[in-house]
Amino acid sequence: MSTIDIGLSKRELDTPALCLDAAALERNIARMASYFQDRPAALRPHCKTHKCPTIAWMQLRAGAIGITCAKLGEAEIMGQAGIRDLLIANQIVGARKISRLVNLAAYTDVMVALDDLDNASELSDAAEAKGVRLRVLLEVVVGMKRCGVPPGQPALDLARQVTALPGLRFEGIMGYEGHAIDIPDRAERERMAREAMTKLVATHDLLERNGIEVGIVSGGGTGTHDITGNYEGITEVQAGSYATMDAKYRDEVGIDYELALTVVSRVISVNEPNMAVIDAGLKTLSTDSGPGHLIRPEGWRLGKKLSEEHGRLHHEGGEPLRPGDTVEIVPAHGCTTINLHDAYHVTRDGVVEAVWPIAARGCIR
Ligand SMILES: Cc1ncc(COP(=O)(O)O)c(C=O)c1O
Repeated sequence: MSTIDIGLSKRELDTPALCLDAAALERNIARMASYFQDRPAALRPHCKTHKCPTIAWMQLRAGAIGITCAKLGEAEIMGQAGIRDLLIANQIVGARKISRLVNLAAYTDVMVALDDLDNASELSDAAEAKGVRLRVLLEVVVGMKRCGVPPGQPALDLARQVTALPGLRFEGIMGYEGHAIDIPDRAERERMAREAMTKLVATHDLLERNGIEVGIVSGGGTGTHDITGNYEGITEVQAGSYATMDAKYRDEVGIDYELALTVVSRVISVNEPNMAVIDAGLKTLSTDSGPGHLIRPEGWRLGKKLSEEHGRLHHEGGEPLRPGDTVEIVPAHGCTTINLHDAYHVTRDGVVEAVWPIAARGCIR
């Protein structure tokens, strides 16, 4: 990572290089912020996609109420960057992590999800020992088979026990409809997301009827921001991918935010007439949702199978490529691709204007 790249065009960059189009990023952030401007629900963008405090600050300045994190390590990076209102939308389990969490809670307003009484008791004890009251959300499972207590009575039973713990401050509930978020058919996505939010909001109502105040009801992501974010009773939405976007969300799910993120790669070998080899492989582009789409030059296609450090381009009628030529790829999955890189080359009109560290990359703990 080096600011020495500032002023270079994309074609001049050393490769492979992760690039971020500043104007597209700014428009994506402004567009999502304006969607939430006059709605009951607020935006708390998920930073597990961009992993970059600079982008988190742009989202906050545009109106976001705080930042969502997947991991404690991400929250620590955001806290060090001065961001105070953080939600870790995940369980923090184990003595070492819990002690890091209460240390973070001593200087930020961090909230954490939980779905287990023993874990809640450990969090409460550690918070008391540290002299803080830890803010918690009860995670409710709303259809995706992942973390969370079942909606309804089991959620009420656990909420009653959690509210009695002296080290914790019960803030509300969250439910992530990850099983619905990338369904390409809009009507089906809407049906599934609404079904999930019905369970979450019904749980909110049950808790409130039983005298438990539920301030926060959080869910949603990029694919459901305008479904969950428009559902009565939801107070916060955790959309993440919209800022940088990726080929899967745009081409398969049909979310029309702009593709701000690309990888610039270089042709390193052309020894077959219909194939060129580039310097971007598995260690540059994640392939969990496919390898990504080649957007430059036309008339070539990125092969499905990447080697560790090589990709293959297949000729489909474009001008011949030579070693040294650069190509540009939109990653299929932004979150997992960004995590492979140290920094964004932030470009405006194709010229690097800044280099932003991806400070939370690799923060899996
Ligand atoms: C808990 C949680 N919230 C929200 C999201 C939504 O993220 P995105 O906007 O990238 O779909 C995710 C995605 O993995 C998630 O795990």
